[in-house]
Amino acid sequence: MRLDRPDEVRAALEHADLVPHPPHVDDDGATMRLRSAMARFTGGAAHAARRAAVVELIDRLDVDDLSEAARAATTARLGGARLDAAELARHVPTEAVAVALGIVVDDRLVDDVHAMVAVIGRGAAPSKRADAATERLLARADAAGLEPVAAMSVLYQNTDATAALLLARLAAIVQAAERAPAVPRTRRVARCDVQIGGHRILADTEVTIEIGAAGLPFGAGRHACPGQTVATRLVDCVADTITDAGYVPEPSSVELDADGRPVAMSLVATTVR
Ligand code: HEM
Repeated sequence: MRLDRPDEVRAALEHADLVPHPPHVDDDGATMRLRSAMARFTGGAAHAARRAAVVELIDRLDVDDLSEAARAATTARLGGARLDAAELARHVPTEAVAVALGIVVDDRLVDDVHAMVAVIGRGAAPSKRADAATERLLARADAAGLEPVAAMSVLYQNTDATAALLLARLAAIVQAAERAPAVPRTRRVARCDVQIGGHRILADTEVTIEIGAAGLPFGAGRHACPGQTVATRLVDCVADTITDAGYVPEPSSVELDADGRPVAMSLVATTVR
């Protein structure tokens, strides 16, 4: 079942009986346990408290500290005539948010976050390697005095969505085309029979909700993105640091995915630094 009409998308996101998709595999390693504990993947009564813990952490983030960390992490990657924007987008959001959260950035942090995200968000099979990465991440959050699941939720949500938003923002500098949404769709499952507009959705049916097509790139309803302001500020800061340093996207290098989102791009220096 697929919904893409704006009124139906909003109604589906606001419906209490369309809940986040349960884990796709039966695995009780650290990564899938973390997924089950995240607000993003929790339906029903447990959601509100889990969301509140993440919102509290996001609210505690100092946007000036975050902006400074984003500028520093970006500047550290600038230099030379040509840069890989996707590589920059892979590192900088994680490094900046980690610094703003007080998490130590070491050589393994970004790889560990991507190993966790691959399993939770990109459908990679759980593995001992990913579980070890998740355990190291939880320990880092604990050492920073943070509520570990909330901290992991922030790092998780900040990875692919923020990278996509950043690449879209950079591509828009040189492409007039309408920007594709960073998060095109989300999924829910019906926990009982549900009526959305003209659709009767039977219990246990999986529903694909085309939030991007409906003009809701940050979602809506009880799971609406609480990181929108922080993410937008972060992306603005990184993009401004890149352009202020004289780098611009090379139009012919921009590669799009099936949803029209830029996934590869070179940044070229226009001024001698
Ligand atoms: C600093 C970066 C970000 C943080 C900390 C963050 C945080 C979160 C959290 C905690 C949730 C789950 C809320 C819940 O289930 O109650 C969420 C959901 C969501 N976020 Fe973000 N987010 C960030 C960046 C982004 C970006 C850049 C986008 C897209 C442009 C985005 C789009 C969404 C969407 C669409 C949802 C809802 C998913 C659903 O309903 O299934 N987020 N975000």
